[in-house]
Parts: sequence; structure tokens; C-alpha cells
Amino acid sequence: MYHVSIIGTGSYVPERVLSNHHLSKMVDTSDRWIIERTGIRERRIAGEEETNTTMGMIALQRAIQNAGIRPEEIESLVIGTNTTEPVWPSSGGPMVEGLGLRKDIPFFDVQAGCTGFNYALAIAENSIKAGQYTTVAVIGTDKLSAITNYQDRSTCVLFGDGAGAVILRRSDQDGLIRSYLGGNAGSRNLLLLIKKNGSPNGYISMEGRKVYIFAKRIMVESCLRVLDPAGTAGKSELRALFEQVDKIIPHQANARIIMGAAEEFESRLGLPDGEAKEKMIMTIEQYGNNSCASIPLALDLSIREGKVKKGDLLIFVGFGAGLTYGANLVRL
Ligand code: ACO
Repeated sequence: MYHVSIIGTGSYVPERVLSNHHLSKMVDTSDRWIIERTGIRERRIAGEEETNTTMGMIALQRAIQNAGIRPEEIESLVIGTNTTEPVWPSSGGPMVEGLGLRKDIPFFDVQAGCTGFNYALAIAENSIKAGQYTTVAVIGTDKLSAITNYQDRSTCVLFGDGAGAVILRRSDQDGLIRSYLGGNAGSRNLLLLIKKNGSPNGYISMEGRKVYIFAKRIMVESCLRVLDPAGTAGKSELRALFEQVDKIIPHQANARIIMGAAEEFESRLGLPDGEAKEKMIMTIEQYGNNSCASIPLALDLSIREGKVKKGDLLIFVGFGAGLTYGANLVRL
């Protein structure tokens, strides 16, 4: 089996800022409520002409530049997204054409709610580990504003738009160590879904409190499972594994979910107060929840801002509609 590393990252967010103040003129809400309950101050909203494809393409172009490779070196394109317009074919075709990638490479969308980037990364990781490819691009991109009902205060305050990308390459070092993916179908499938109610795509409909409780628990479980795939480690072993992690980049759904998960790590593993909280990367204040973009965007921003650096041990952890969840353990 081969090793695989992340050799470049890139991201893109639209220029238009939608502040809490502005939202409070659209629905019955307030800056204070949104900050206290979610940690979000503002989010980016794509322009009319922008799509998940155009945003993803810019993020990918930046990742290619950052990796210092030629576009023709990419052998496969895996895209985590929920908002392809039109619904099919994949959003990858225009990216292949627009960026001058080889015309014969495979490209496809992975639709797994907000866990789409974690799933896409795992698929790409395993295709390189198996020897199928040497260089693969993974993109997380979403235009949630296209499926958000701006008359529903319980959802419209949460979501935004954006894209992030990483370039993976076969390497002699253990970069992407392993991934853990999970799902929870059945009745939970209905907690977060798109309802066809007027708009061409339908709108996001969500039982927020139930998703919140599920998310907090599953983020902790997913991190522990990616650290201990056999699930056999005792408390002190888990604690030792957790202490080796430098940063956790969680899906940016709600600051309280992220901090709640950190508190659960601290109580379950007997860690000093604040030790898990300090590991959590947060970009939600400025960008809200932009679904599949949130983890690769936070990764790219964190690298530029020096919050994470080469050699760091990271966990990317996500959850989303399905319900789905997953985590990737990465040595940068
Ligand atoms: N402004 C003011 N009041 C509001 C707003 C708002 N924007 N939204 C809801 N409220 C009200 C509710 O109507 C309710 O009022 P009531 O008590 O009179 O009935 C009250 O606030 C409390 O509502 P809760 O839903 O209990 O509030 P909670 O603290 O759970 O916060 C939130 C709601 C932010 C939606 C939270 O539940 C959450 O973040 N859930 C997870 C959502 C999520 O992450 N979804 C995305 C998953 S990823 C993906 O695939 C897209």
C-alpha cells in the first residue's frame, strides 16, 4: 500500500457579506440571538452567476498553484457537494475544461450532506493508497444560499457559500493516515432534508435541536474511532492518542456544537479544562456553515494564518444530512 500526503490547499469565498444585522431586517431575529446560539456574525453569499462549480473551480486553481503542480498532473477529481446546478451531470466537467485538466480523467460528485468533504477525501485517499492514481484533487464546494429559505429564521441564519480544495499525492510519508466514515439512516434521515416547497431546488428543512444533540455526540465518537479504529483502547490509551493531536478542524455548523464536543472530550478523557477547546479550529464567526466547503476552507485559512503547520497531526471531522458523519486523521 502507498502513502498519501496533502501537497497543496486553496479556497474561495464570495465577496458579498450577509451580516446578522442585515438578517434581522429580513426575519424575526437579532444579532445577539445568532451570536449567542451559533457563534456566527456574518456569512458569504454567492452572486447570481456564481455556482458550486465556479466557486470550486477557483478554490481548485488556487490549490494547484499552492501545490506547484501543472493541471495536467491531476488524474482524478472528487467533489464533495450538495448543490450541483443542474442536479446532473457532475460539477467536475466544467472544472476539467476551465482549468485545462486532462480531458480523459474521471470526475464525480460525492453527495453526503455536510460530510461530503470527509467522504470525498477518504475515496481519494484510498484510490492513491491502492496504487490507482498518483495525484488526485479533492474539492468541497456548496452554494447553500440556493436552497435556503430566507423566511425561515431557524435555518437562514446558519448558512453561507464557499469552496475549498486540496491536492493529494502519493508520497513516502504517512500524510493521510486513515479515515473513518459512518451513517445513521432510518428515522434520523428525516431530521435534515430538502423539501420541495416552491423553489426549483426546494429548501433545507431541519429539526435543529435533534441535529444539534446528534452532532455533538457523533463528532466525539468519530474522532475517537479514527484514532482507535478497532475501538479497543481504554481511557488512558485514548487520552494519550488524543494528546498527540495538534488541531481538530470540525465542520463549522455551530460554535456551541464544537465547544460542546470539546467539553465532552475533556470529561470523557479526563483532560484538563481547555485542553480540547484549544485544539478546535473555528472559522464559523465569519463564514457560517458552508457545508462541504467548511473543512477545506478552514484548513486553507489556518495554514495561511499559521494556526496549523507542516508536521501537525490533524483530525477533520464532519456530520451532516443523511445523517452521515466521518473523520480523517492527517499528518500535514
Ligand atoms: N432568532 C431568534 N429566535 C430563534 C431563531 C432565530 N434565528 N431561530 C429559532 N429561534 C427560536 C425558536 O423558535 C425557539 O423559540 P421558542 O422557545 O419560543 O419555541 C427558540 O429560539 C429556541 O429554539 P431552539 O431550536 O431550541 O434553539 P437552539 O439553541 O437549539 O438553536 C439552532 C437552534 C441554532 C438551529 C441549533 O439547534 C443548531 O445549530 N442545530 C444544529 C443545526 C445544524 O448544524 N445543521 C446543519 C447540519 S449540516 C448540513 O448538512 C447542512
